[in-house]
Amino acid sequence: MNILYVTSEAVPFCKTGGLADVSGSLPVALAGNGDRVSVILPLYKSVKEKWLSELHFEKYIYVNLAWRRAYCGLFSIRREGVTWYFVDNEQYFLRDELYGHYDDGERFGFFSRAVTELLKVLPDKPDVIHCNDWQSALVPVYLRDEAVRDDFYKGIRTVITVHNIEYQGRFGREALEDLFGLDRGWFDGGTIAFDGDVNLLKAALMTADAITAVSPTYARELKYAYFAHGLDSVMRLNEGKLHGVLNGIDMVRYDPRQDKNLACRYSERTLSEKTKNKLALQKKMGLAEADDTPILAMVSRLVSHKGLDLVCEVLDRFMEKDVQLVVLGKGESGYEDFFRSAQQRYPGRISVYLGYSEELAMQIYGGSDLFLMPSKSEPCGLSQMIAMRYGTVPIVRETGGLKDTVRAYETPSGEGNGFSFADYNAGDMCHVICEAIDLYHNNKDAYKLLQTRGMTGDFSWTRSAQAYQDIYQSICSK
Ligand code: GLC
Repeated sequence: MNILYVTSEAVPFCKTGGLADVSGSLPVALAGNGDRVSVILPLYKSVKEKWLSELHFEKYIYVNLAWRRAYCGLFSIRREGVTWYFVDNEQYFLRDELYGHYDDGERFGFFSRAVTELLKVLPDKPDVIHCNDWQSALVPVYLRDEAVRDDFYKGIRTVITVHNIEYQGRFGREALEDLFGLDRGWFDGGTIAFDGDVNLLKAALMTADAITAVSPTYARELKYAYFAHGLDSVMRLNEGKLHGVLNGIDMVRYDPRQDKNLACRYSERTLSEKTKNKLALQKKMGLAEADDTPILAMVSRLVSHKGLDLVCEVLDRFMEKDVQLVVLGKGESGYEDFFRSAQQRYPGRISVYLGYSEELAMQIYGGSDLFLMPSKSEPCGLSQMIAMRYGTVPIVRETGGLKDTVRAYETPSGEGNGFSFADYNAGDMCHVICEAIDLYHNNKDAYKLLQTRGMTGDFSWTRSAQAYQDIYQSICSK
Protein backbone atom coordinates (compact mmCIF):
# COMPACT_ATOMS: atom_id res chain seq x y z
CA MET A 1 0.00 0.00 0.00
CA ASN A 2 1.05 3.58 -0.51
CA ILE A 3 1.02 5.67 2.66
CA LEU A 4 1.57 9.39 3.06
CA TYR A 5 2.39 10.32 6.66
CA VAL A 6 1.72 13.98 7.48
CA THR A 7 3.38 15.46 10.54
CA SER A 8 4.60 18.77 11.92
CA GLU A 9 7.85 17.35 13.31
CA ALA A 10 10.08 14.30 12.85
CA VAL A 11 13.41 13.11 14.21
CA PRO A 12 16.18 13.59 13.06
CA PHE A 13 15.04 16.79 11.33
CA CYS A 14 13.19 18.70 14.03
CA LYS A 15 11.74 17.91 17.44
CA THR A 16 9.79 19.51 20.25
CA GLY A 17 8.28 16.34 21.73
CA GLY A 18 7.30 12.70 21.42
CA LEU A 19 5.45 13.27 18.14
CA ALA A 20 8.82 13.77 16.46
CA ASP A 21 10.12 10.44 17.78
CA VAL A 22 7.06 8.61 16.52
CA SER A 23 7.14 10.36 13.14
CA GLY A 24 10.83 9.53 12.82
CA SER A 25 10.46 5.84 13.47
CA LEU A 26 6.95 4.57 12.61
CA PRO A 27 7.22 5.38 8.86
CA VAL A 28 10.52 3.49 8.71
CA ALA A 29 8.89 0.48 10.39
CA LEU A 30 5.93 0.62 7.97
CA ALA A 31 8.32 0.67 5.03
CA GLY A 32 10.21 -2.24 6.58
CA ASN A 33 6.93 -4.18 6.61
CA GLY A 34 6.48 -3.65 2.89
CA ASP A 35 4.46 -0.44 2.44
CA ARG A 36 5.56 2.42 0.20
CA VAL A 37 5.87 5.30 2.63
CA SER A 38 6.47 9.03 2.30
CA VAL A 39 6.43 11.59 5.07
CA ILE A 40 5.66 15.26 4.55
CA LEU A 41 6.50 18.08 6.95
CA PRO A 42 7.27 21.82 6.88
CA LEU A 43 10.73 23.03 5.95
CA TYR A 44 11.52 24.96 9.13
CA LYS A 45 14.48 27.27 9.48
CA SER A 46 16.44 24.79 11.61
CA VAL A 47 15.88 22.05 9.04
CA LYS A 48 16.89 24.29 6.17
CA GLU A 49 20.09 25.33 7.94
CA LYS A 50 21.17 21.82 8.71
CA TRP A 51 19.85 19.71 5.82
CA LEU A 52 19.45 21.90 2.75
CA SER A 53 22.60 20.68 1.02
CA GLU A 54 21.29 17.10 1.20
CA LEU A 55 17.78 17.90 0.02
CA HIS A 56 16.66 17.53 -3.55
CA PHE A 57 14.49 20.32 -4.97
CA GLU A 58 11.46 18.70 -6.60
CA LYS A 59 9.26 21.53 -7.82
CA TYR A 60 7.08 24.39 -6.72
CA ILE A 61 3.41 25.14 -6.96
CA TYR A 62 1.12 27.91 -5.73
CA VAL A 63 -1.34 27.01 -3.02
CA ASN A 64 -4.72 28.64 -2.55
CA LEU A 65 -5.70 29.28 1.05
CA ALA A 66 -8.93 31.31 1.24
CA TRP A 67 -8.08 34.56 -0.57
CA ARG A 68 -4.33 33.95 -0.35
CA ARG A 69 -2.17 32.44 -3.01
CA ALA A 70 1.14 31.34 -1.55
CA TYR A 71 4.36 29.89 -2.92
CA CYS A 72 4.98 26.27 -1.98
CA GLY A 73 8.32 24.64 -2.74
CA LEU A 74 8.83 20.92 -2.38
CA PHE A 75 12.10 19.30 -1.37
CA SER A 76 12.84 15.65 -0.71
CA ILE A 77 15.38 13.24 0.68
CA ARG A 78 15.42 9.45 0.64
CA ARG A 79 16.40 7.87 3.97
CA GLU A 80 15.86 4.48 5.53
CA GLY A 81 13.48 3.29 2.83
CA VAL A 82 11.21 6.34 3.17
CA THR A 83 10.85 9.51 1.06
CA TRP A 84 10.80 12.58 3.29
CA TYR A 85 9.16 15.64 1.71
CA PHE A 86 9.53 19.18 2.98
CA VAL A 87 7.12 22.01 2.26
CA ASP A 88 8.93 25.29 1.75
CA ASN A 89 7.45 28.71 2.36
CA GLU A 90 9.81 31.12 4.06
CA GLN A 91 7.13 33.49 5.23
CA TYR A 92 5.50 30.73 7.26
CA PHE A 93 8.35 28.46 8.26
CA LEU A 94 11.62 30.39 8.27
CA ARG A 95 11.35 31.09 12.00
CA ASP A 96 13.25 30.05 15.09
CA GLU A 97 10.50 28.15 16.89
CA LEU A 98 8.27 25.49 15.35
CA TYR A 99 5.11 26.62 17.15
CA GLY A 100 3.82 29.38 19.36
CA HIS A 101 3.44 32.09 16.70
CA TYR A 102 0.44 34.42 16.46
CA ASP A 103 -0.41 32.98 13.02
CA ASP A 104 -0.03 29.24 13.74
CA GLY A 105 -3.55 28.69 12.39
CA GLU A 106 -2.62 30.23 9.07
CA ARG A 107 0.75 28.43 8.98
CA PHE A 108 -0.71 24.98 9.48
CA GLY A 109 -3.79 25.79 7.42
CA PHE A 110 -1.32 26.50 4.62
CA PHE A 111 0.58 23.29 5.37
CA SER A 112 -2.58 21.13 5.24
CA ARG A 113 -3.79 22.88 2.09
CA ALA A 114 -0.35 22.42 0.51
CA VAL A 115 -0.42 18.68 1.26
CA THR A 116 -3.84 18.43 -0.38
CA GLU A 117 -2.74 20.25 -3.53
CA LEU A 118 0.65 18.53 -3.72
CA LEU A 119 -1.10 15.16 -3.97
CA LYS A 120 -1.62 15.96 -7.63
CA VAL A 121 2.08 16.41 -8.33
CA LEU A 122 3.59 13.67 -6.14
CA PRO A 123 4.87 10.67 -8.11
CA ASP A 124 2.16 8.35 -6.85
CA LYS A 125 -1.19 8.83 -5.27
CA PRO A 126 -1.47 7.55 -1.69
CA ASP A 127 -4.08 5.00 -0.65
CA VAL A 128 -4.00 6.34 2.90
CA ILE A 129 -3.01 9.69 4.35
CA HIS A 130 -2.05 9.38 7.99
CA CYS A 131 -2.34 12.71 9.86
CA ASN A 132 -1.13 13.63 13.34
CA ASP A 133 -2.54 16.06 15.89
CA TRP A 134 -4.17 19.39 15.06
CA GLN A 135 -1.42 20.69 12.78
CA SER A 136 -2.44 18.32 10.00
CA ALA A 137 -6.05 17.85 11.10
CA LEU A 138 -7.41 19.87 8.19
CA VAL A 139 -6.18 17.39 5.61
CA PRO A 140 -9.13 14.96 5.99
CA VAL A 141 -11.49 17.94 5.87
CA TYR A 142 -9.95 19.34 2.68
CA LEU A 143 -10.07 15.92 1.07
CA ARG A 144 -13.78 15.58 1.78
CA ASP A 145 -14.36 19.11 0.61
CA GLU A 146 -12.50 18.59 -2.67
CA ALA A 147 -13.97 15.14 -3.32
CA VAL A 148 -17.37 16.72 -3.93
CA ARG A 149 -15.99 18.52 -6.98
CA ASP A 150 -13.03 16.43 -8.00
CA ASP A 151 -12.97 12.64 -8.40
CA PHE A 152 -9.20 12.57 -7.88
CA TYR A 153 -9.78 12.94 -4.13
CA LYS A 154 -12.42 10.24 -3.87
CA GLY A 155 -11.22 6.98 -2.40
CA ILE A 156 -8.16 8.33 -0.58
CA ARG A 157 -8.59 7.16 3.03
CA THR A 158 -7.47 9.10 6.09
CA VAL A 159 -6.30 8.34 9.61
CA ILE A 160 -5.91 10.88 12.41
CA THR A 161 -3.67 10.00 15.34
CA VAL A 162 -4.20 11.78 18.65
CA HIS A 163 -0.89 12.20 20.45
CA ASN A 164 -2.25 14.63 22.99
CA ILE A 165 -5.84 15.84 23.00
CA GLU A 166 -4.92 18.90 25.02
CA TYR A 167 -3.83 20.62 21.82
CA GLN A 168 -6.80 20.93 19.48
CA GLY A 169 -6.17 23.89 17.19
CA ARG A 170 -9.02 26.16 18.29
CA PHE A 171 -9.66 29.40 16.44
CA GLY A 172 -12.40 32.03 16.29
CA ARG A 173 -15.44 31.43 14.07
CA GLU A 174 -14.15 33.94 11.50
CA ALA A 175 -11.14 31.73 10.78
CA LEU A 176 -13.34 29.27 8.88
CA GLU A 177 -13.73 31.23 5.65
CA ASP A 178 -11.01 33.83 6.07
CA LEU A 179 -8.13 31.56 7.13
CA PHE A 180 -9.07 28.08 6.08
CA GLY A 181 -11.20 28.81 3.05
CA LEU A 182 -14.02 26.50 4.09
CA ASP A 183 -17.70 26.95 3.49
CA ARG A 184 -19.98 27.86 6.43
CA GLY A 185 -21.70 24.50 6.10
CA TRP A 186 -18.73 22.89 7.84
CA PHE A 187 -19.51 25.03 10.85
CA ASP A 188 -23.29 25.12 10.73
CA GLY A 189 -23.45 21.36 10.27
CA GLY A 190 -21.33 20.97 13.40
CA THR A 191 -18.35 19.15 11.91
CA ILE A 192 -15.77 21.79 12.75
CA ALA A 193 -17.73 23.79 15.36
CA PHE A 194 -17.04 23.34 19.02
CA ASP A 195 -18.19 25.70 21.77
CA GLY A 196 -18.66 28.44 19.19
CA ASP A 197 -15.11 28.06 17.90
CA VAL A 198 -13.51 26.40 14.94
CA ASN A 199 -11.84 23.24 16.27
CA LEU A 200 -9.52 21.53 13.81
CA LEU A 201 -8.94 18.34 15.78
CA LYS A 202 -12.66 17.82 16.22
CA ALA A 203 -13.14 18.21 12.47
CA ALA A 204 -10.55 15.52 11.82
CA LEU A 205 -12.15 13.18 14.38
CA MET A 206 -15.45 13.63 12.58
CA THR A 207 -14.15 13.22 9.02
CA ALA A 208 -11.21 10.79 9.10
CA ASP A 209 -11.87 7.15 8.27
CA ALA A 210 -10.07 5.99 11.41
CA ILE A 211 -8.95 7.59 14.66
CA THR A 212 -6.04 6.21 16.59
CA ALA A 213 -4.84 7.09 20.06
CA VAL A 214 -1.23 6.34 21.02
CA SER A 215 -2.04 3.62 23.55
CA PRO A 216 -5.00 1.29 24.20
CA THR A 217 -5.59 2.80 27.64
CA TYR A 218 -5.55 6.34 26.24
CA ALA A 219 -8.12 5.29 23.62
CA ARG A 220 -10.40 4.22 26.47
CA GLU A 221 -9.65 7.27 28.60
CA LEU A 222 -10.50 9.67 25.78
CA LYS A 223 -14.16 8.77 26.14
CA TYR A 224 -14.18 10.36 29.60
CA ALA A 225 -14.34 14.05 30.42
CA TYR A 226 -11.39 13.87 32.84
CA PHE A 227 -9.00 13.12 29.97
CA ALA A 228 -10.62 14.49 26.82
CA HIS A 229 -10.38 18.27 27.28
CA GLY A 230 -13.98 18.69 26.15
CA LEU A 231 -13.96 16.20 23.28
CA ASP A 232 -15.23 13.12 25.16
CA SER A 233 -18.63 13.24 23.49
CA VAL A 234 -16.99 13.48 20.06
CA MET A 235 -14.88 10.47 20.97
CA ARG A 236 -17.91 8.49 22.11
CA LEU A 237 -19.74 9.42 18.94
CA ASN A 238 -16.88 8.09 16.84
CA GLU A 239 -16.09 5.13 19.05
CA GLY A 240 -16.65 2.68 16.19
CA LYS A 241 -13.59 3.93 14.32
CA LEU A 242 -11.35 4.56 17.36
CA HIS A 243 -8.33 2.31 17.96
CA GLY A 244 -5.53 2.38 20.52
CA VAL A 245 -2.10 1.52 19.14
CA LEU A 246 0.86 1.62 21.49
CA ASN A 247 3.89 3.58 20.31
CA GLY A 248 7.23 1.90 20.02
CA ILE A 249 10.67 3.42 20.38
CA ASP A 250 13.63 3.38 18.04
CA MET A 251 15.47 0.35 19.43
CA VAL A 252 18.67 1.17 17.55
CA ARG A 253 18.88 4.79 18.61
CA TYR A 254 18.06 3.94 22.20
CA ASP A 255 20.45 1.13 22.94
CA PRO A 256 22.86 1.20 25.90
CA ARG A 257 25.13 -1.21 24.03
CA GLN A 258 25.93 1.41 21.43
CA ASP A 259 24.95 4.80 22.82
CA LYS A 260 27.87 7.16 22.30
CA ASN A 261 26.60 9.60 24.92
CA LEU A 262 27.41 7.14 27.70
CA ALA A 263 30.66 7.05 29.67
CA CYS A 264 30.50 3.26 29.43
CA ARG A 265 28.29 1.06 27.25
CA TYR A 266 26.54 -1.96 28.72
CA SER A 267 23.87 -4.58 28.24
CA GLU A 268 21.73 -6.69 30.57
CA ARG A 269 24.64 -9.12 30.73
CA THR A 270 27.13 -6.44 31.81
CA LEU A 271 24.83 -4.52 34.12
CA SER A 272 27.59 -3.79 36.63
CA GLU A 273 29.10 -1.45 34.00
CA LYS A 274 26.07 0.78 34.49
CA THR A 275 27.67 1.89 37.77
CA LYS A 276 30.38 3.69 35.80
CA ASN A 277 27.70 5.76 34.14
CA LYS A 278 26.21 6.48 37.53
CA LEU A 279 29.51 7.75 38.93
CA ALA A 280 30.08 9.85 35.79
CA LEU A 281 26.60 11.33 36.14
CA GLN A 282 27.09 12.11 39.84
CA LYS A 283 30.34 13.84 39.01
CA LYS A 284 28.89 15.82 36.11
CA MET A 285 25.82 16.91 38.07
CA GLY A 286 27.68 17.80 41.28
CA LEU A 287 26.17 14.98 43.33
CA ALA A 288 28.00 13.03 46.02
CA GLU A 289 29.81 10.17 44.26
CA ALA A 290 28.20 7.25 46.03
CA ASP A 291 27.62 4.14 43.98
CA ASP A 292 25.28 2.60 46.54
CA THR A 293 22.85 5.50 46.73
CA PRO A 294 20.05 5.15 44.19
CA ILE A 295 19.50 8.02 41.77
CA LEU A 296 15.87 8.84 41.11
CA ALA A 297 15.54 10.69 37.81
CA MET A 298 12.98 12.80 35.99
CA VAL A 299 13.38 13.86 32.36
CA SER A 300 10.24 15.78 31.62
CA ARG A 301 8.69 19.00 30.45
CA LEU A 302 7.95 20.83 33.69
CA VAL A 303 4.21 21.23 33.13
CA SER A 304 1.34 20.35 35.38
CA HIS A 305 -0.03 17.26 33.58
CA LYS A 306 3.32 15.57 34.20
CA GLY A 307 2.26 15.26 37.85
CA LEU A 308 4.80 17.66 39.31
CA ASP A 309 2.54 18.96 42.05
CA LEU A 310 2.71 15.48 43.60
CA VAL A 311 6.49 15.70 43.61
CA CYS A 312 6.43 19.19 45.16
CA GLU A 313 4.11 17.96 47.89
CA VAL A 314 6.19 15.02 49.13
CA LEU A 315 9.76 15.73 48.03
CA ASP A 316 10.97 16.29 51.59
CA ARG A 317 9.38 13.03 52.68
CA PHE A 318 11.13 10.77 50.21
CA MET A 319 14.37 12.74 50.52
CA GLU A 320 14.54 11.43 54.10
CA LYS A 321 15.64 8.17 52.50
CA ASP A 322 19.13 7.48 51.19
CA VAL A 323 18.43 8.68 47.62
CA GLN A 324 19.58 11.33 45.16
CA LEU A 325 17.34 13.19 42.69
CA VAL A 326 18.20 14.38 39.18
CA VAL A 327 15.80 16.53 37.16
CA LEU A 328 16.18 17.56 33.52
CA GLY A 329 13.59 19.75 31.83
CA LYS A 330 12.13 23.16 31.45
CA GLY A 331 8.66 24.59 31.62
CA GLU A 332 6.42 26.52 33.96
CA SER A 333 8.31 28.98 36.14
CA GLY A 334 6.65 27.80 39.39
CA TYR A 335 8.12 24.32 38.94
CA GLU A 336 11.46 25.65 37.79
CA ASP A 337 11.67 27.79 40.96
CA PHE A 338 10.67 24.84 43.11
CA PHE A 339 13.41 22.58 41.76
CA ARG A 340 16.01 25.36 41.82
CA SER A 341 15.37 25.91 45.52
CA ALA A 342 15.22 22.15 46.23
CA GLN A 343 18.71 21.88 44.76
CA GLN A 344 19.92 24.55 47.16
CA ARG A 345 18.31 22.87 50.12
CA TYR A 346 19.86 19.48 49.30
CA PRO A 347 23.39 20.20 48.07
CA GLY A 348 25.08 17.11 46.68
CA ARG A 349 21.76 15.21 46.79
CA ILE A 350 19.53 17.01 44.30
CA SER A 351 20.75 18.30 40.97
CA VAL A 352 18.62 20.11 38.44
CA TYR A 353 19.26 21.12 34.84
CA LEU A 354 16.58 23.53 33.67
CA GLY A 355 16.81 23.19 29.92
CA TYR A 356 17.03 20.38 27.45
CA SER A 357 20.07 18.45 26.31
CA GLU A 358 19.75 15.17 24.45
CA GLU A 359 23.25 14.16 25.53
CA LEU A 360 22.56 14.76 29.22
CA ALA A 361 19.16 13.07 28.91
CA MET A 362 20.83 9.89 27.65
CA GLN A 363 23.43 10.06 30.41
CA ILE A 364 20.61 10.33 32.93
CA TYR A 365 18.82 7.29 31.47
CA GLY A 366 22.14 5.44 31.54
CA GLY A 367 23.32 6.53 34.99
CA SER A 368 20.16 6.51 37.11
CA ASP A 369 18.50 3.68 39.02
CA LEU A 370 14.87 4.76 39.20
CA PHE A 371 12.82 6.88 36.80
CA LEU A 372 9.79 8.83 37.99
CA MET A 373 6.76 9.63 35.79
CA PRO A 374 3.74 10.43 37.98
CA SER A 375 1.71 11.96 35.10
CA LYS A 376 -1.86 13.09 35.61
CA SER A 377 -2.41 11.91 32.04
CA GLU A 378 0.07 10.42 29.58
CA PRO A 379 -1.17 9.46 26.13
CA CYS A 380 1.71 7.06 25.65
CA GLY A 381 4.96 8.33 27.09
CA LEU A 382 8.22 7.23 25.56
CA SER A 383 10.60 8.05 28.42
CA GLN A 384 9.48 5.14 30.58
CA MET A 385 10.30 2.77 27.70
CA ILE A 386 13.68 4.38 27.11
CA ALA A 387 14.39 4.20 30.85
CA MET A 388 13.57 0.48 30.93
CA ARG A 389 15.77 -0.14 27.92
CA TYR A 390 18.63 1.44 29.90
CA GLY A 391 17.94 -0.66 33.00
CA THR A 392 16.47 2.27 34.92
CA VAL A 393 13.38 1.05 36.74
CA PRO A 394 10.28 3.20 36.17
CA ILE A 395 7.87 4.45 38.83
CA VAL A 396 4.69 5.59 37.11
CA ARG A 397 1.08 6.47 37.63
CA GLU A 398 -1.27 4.02 35.99
CA THR A 399 -2.59 6.12 33.13
CA GLY A 400 -2.43 5.96 29.31
CA GLY A 401 0.63 4.31 27.89
CA LEU A 402 2.29 4.18 31.30
CA LYS A 403 -0.31 1.67 32.33
CA ASP A 404 0.19 -0.30 29.12
CA THR A 405 3.97 -0.57 29.40
CA VAL A 406 4.82 -0.79 33.11
CA ARG A 407 3.80 -3.86 35.13
CA ALA A 408 3.98 -3.25 38.87
CA TYR A 409 6.39 -5.22 41.04
CA GLU A 410 4.54 -7.86 42.97
CA THR A 411 5.54 -9.63 46.13
CA PRO A 412 6.13 -12.44 46.78
CA SER A 413 6.23 -13.52 43.10
CA GLY A 414 8.75 -10.81 42.14
CA GLU A 415 6.82 -10.27 38.90
CA GLY A 416 6.86 -6.92 37.07
CA ASN A 417 9.18 -4.46 35.39
CA GLY A 418 8.63 -1.36 37.52
CA PHE A 419 6.49 0.32 40.15
CA SER A 420 3.13 2.02 39.82
CA PHE A 421 0.32 3.67 41.73
CA ALA A 422 -3.28 4.13 40.62
CA ASP A 423 -4.74 7.28 42.17
CA TYR A 424 -3.41 10.74 41.54
CA ASN A 425 -2.33 11.18 45.11
CA ALA A 426 0.98 12.38 46.59
CA GLY A 427 0.85 9.99 49.55
CA ASP A 428 0.44 6.95 47.28
CA MET A 429 3.25 8.12 45.05
CA CYS A 430 5.55 8.70 48.04
CA HIS A 431 4.77 5.26 49.38
CA VAL A 432 5.74 3.62 46.08
CA ILE A 433 8.92 5.69 45.72
CA CYS A 434 9.99 4.60 49.21
CA GLU A 435 9.15 0.99 48.38
CA ALA A 436 11.38 1.21 45.29
CA ILE A 437 14.24 2.79 47.24
CA ASP A 438 13.97 0.08 49.90
CA LEU A 439 14.00 -2.66 47.29
CA TYR A 440 17.13 -1.14 45.76
CA HIS A 441 18.89 -1.15 49.15
CA ASN A 442 17.61 -4.37 50.64
CA ASN A 443 16.82 -6.79 47.84
CA LYS A 444 19.40 -6.38 45.12
CA ASP A 445 18.36 -9.55 43.33
CA ALA A 446 14.74 -8.53 42.98
CA TYR A 447 15.75 -5.06 41.85
CA LYS A 448 18.11 -6.54 39.28
CA LEU A 449 15.35 -8.76 37.91
CA LEU A 450 13.19 -5.69 37.34
CA GLN A 451 16.07 -4.06 35.50
CA THR A 452 16.70 -7.09 33.32
CA ARG A 453 13.04 -7.48 32.42
CA GLY A 454 12.92 -3.85 31.34
CA MET A 455 16.07 -4.17 29.28
CA THR A 456 14.88 -7.25 27.45
CA GLY A 457 11.30 -6.04 26.93
CA ASP A 458 10.05 -5.58 23.38
CA PHE A 459 9.38 -1.87 22.81
CA SER A 460 10.05 -2.07 19.08
CA TRP A 461 7.66 -0.82 16.43
CA THR A 462 7.22 -4.23 14.83
CA ARG A 463 3.90 -5.13 16.42
CA SER A 464 2.42 -1.62 16.34
CA ALA A 465 3.39 -1.00 12.71
CA GLN A 466 1.44 -4.15 11.87
CA ALA A 467 -1.53 -2.84 13.87
CA TYR A 468 -1.52 0.37 11.80
CA GLN A 469 -1.27 -1.66 8.61
CA ASP A 470 -4.31 -3.69 9.65
CA ILE A 471 -6.21 -0.43 10.17
CA TYR A 472 -5.10 0.86 6.74
CA GLN A 473 -6.28 -2.41 5.17
CA SER A 474 -9.64 -2.31 6.88
CA ILE A 475 -10.47 1.27 5.89
CA CYS A 476 -9.37 0.68 2.30
CA SER A 477 -11.57 -2.33 1.90
CA LYS A 478 -14.70 -0.43 3.02
C1 GLC B 1 2.67 13.30 23.04
C2 GLC B 1 2.18 12.64 24.32
C3 GLC B 1 3.08 11.49 24.75
C4 GLC B 1 3.31 10.54 23.58
C5 GLC B 1 3.83 11.33 22.37
C6 GLC B 1 4.03 10.46 21.14
O1 GLC B 1 3.85 14.00 23.30
O2 GLC B 1 2.07 13.59 25.37
O3 GLC B 1 2.52 10.77 25.83
O4 GLC B 1 4.23 9.55 23.92
O5 GLC B 1 2.92 12.35 22.02
O6 GLC B 1 2.85 9.86 20.71
